[in-house]
Amino acid sequence: MSQPRKIIIDTDPGQDDALAILLALASPELDVVGITAVAGNVPLALTQKNARIVCELAGRPEVKVFAGASRPLVRPLVTAEHVHGKTGLDGPVLPDPVMPLQDMNAVDFIVETVMNEPEGAVTLCPIGPLTNIALALVREPRIGGRIREIVLMGGGYFEQGNVTPSAEFNIYVDPHAAATVFSAGIPIVMMPLDVTHKALTTRARVETFRAMGTRVGTAAAELLDFFERFDEEKYGSDGGPLHDPCVIAWLLKPELFSGRHCNVEIETASELTLGSTVVDWWGVTERPKNALVMRDIDADGFFALLTERLARL
Ligand code: RIB
Ligand code: CA
Repeated sequence: MSQPRKIIIDTDPGQDDALAILLALASPELDVVGITAVAGNVPLALTQKNARIVCELAGRPEVKVFAGASRPLVRPLVTAEHVHGKTGLDGPVLPDPVMPLQDMNAVDFIVETVMNEPEGAVTLCPIGPLTNIALALVREPRIGGRIREIVLMGGGYFEQGNVTPSAEFNIYVDPHAAATVFSAGIPIVMMPLDVTHKALTTRARVETFRAMGTRVGTAAAELLDFFERFDEEKYGSDGGPLHDPCVIAWLLKPELFSGRHCNVEIETASELTLGSTVVDWWGVTERPKNALVMRDIDADGFFALLTERLARL
């Protein structure tokens, strides 16, 4: 096997973030050089704690976890306790973390890692609001030419929005950060609602996790039991969309996904459509194709990968 791919997961756990972190830590193809927490689903004090809870659930207390931005660049923080619960990881009873939070700020860690690693060695995997990533780009613009790729969960085009009629949560919370990231000229792979809404945590899939009979399998099932109820009620579906693990699954098995290179711009001015991702899917403009936008997924293959990897923990 070639050298494991170095990644930094930037996250706002969040039950779906937790599954993404577990998938990454269970996969030897990936070297998680650090996990950086950002305010999003719940405030930063909880997202940085939850990231450590998940690392210990995975049996990986040595993973370095950093705290970053406690609020968006410009907008006031909007959180999602109604979806993720007060703790952000409602569902299972998980012990408080023993592993330490790193002293270094997450933004400095991102800059330092990208500057110290060889050019093109580090992939950023943001699965929450993009505040930390934007701050790192402003703090040290040279990282823009050194980052291998940004593989992110965020946005929506055909599916429109989930927090407003036209905006997806991660982009909506910090649209100015998203605009900074999408205009940085760094290769982006975008996992919008258009693809994540096709990765539903059906009852059969969740029971497969529970049937593992392991600490991780049981916790994963209990996290999803809680997480999916909001979207099941909203969409009337069997299960809820499992957003964030799509980012890690793409790194492991890109063939599970399909999409196309498009221009993506972020609405930062209109109160009505703030945070919407305007995707030129049909190529009607001359705007630069700054992102590989995913639209389809082999959902059975995705859950088979997730199940196989979680069973390793
Ligand atoms: O809109 C879905 C995204 O918002 C996911 O990353 C979820 O964890 C929340 O952060
Ligand atoms: Ca998230």
